[in-house]
Amino acid sequence: MEHKITICTSCRHKGTECRPGYELIERLRKAIALAGETVTDGFEVSGVACMAGCDRPCTVAYHGTRKATYLFGDIDPDTDIDDLLSFARQYAALEDGWCTSLDRPGKLRTSTLARVPAAILAIEETKVRAS
Ligand code: FES
Repeated sequence: MEHKITICTSCRHKGTECRPGYELIERLRKAIALAGETVTDGFEVSGVACMAGCDRPCTVAYHGTRKATYLFGDIDPDTDIDDLLSFARQYAALEDGWCTSLDRPGKLRTSTLARVPAAILAIEETKVRAS
């Protein structure tokens, strides 16, 4: 898998005990399985206990090798699966994962909590000087 979608399983709808992350994982996995090979072959959907966006439940992150990472909040399994799937297609096609809020589908234009550039780690050669 080249890409991952990580969904918080600890987020609660405000004022309730409901944790929508598990339902979101299930619905998004089904949608991806039906979406065709562009998305099906490239994405793994998994859960994590918390991504520090607790005031904006439910949080969802997109990550990819050498790609920008996104964290979205306020995601609802009842209304936002289509936007998540559209963004998966878009994200898969972007070489560095970078796009503006205007490029993102639907609710993801206004619910982005973070967009973190890909880490490009330079490995410096250490020169051993002969004395
Ligand atoms: S509980 Fe979901 S981000 Fe913290």
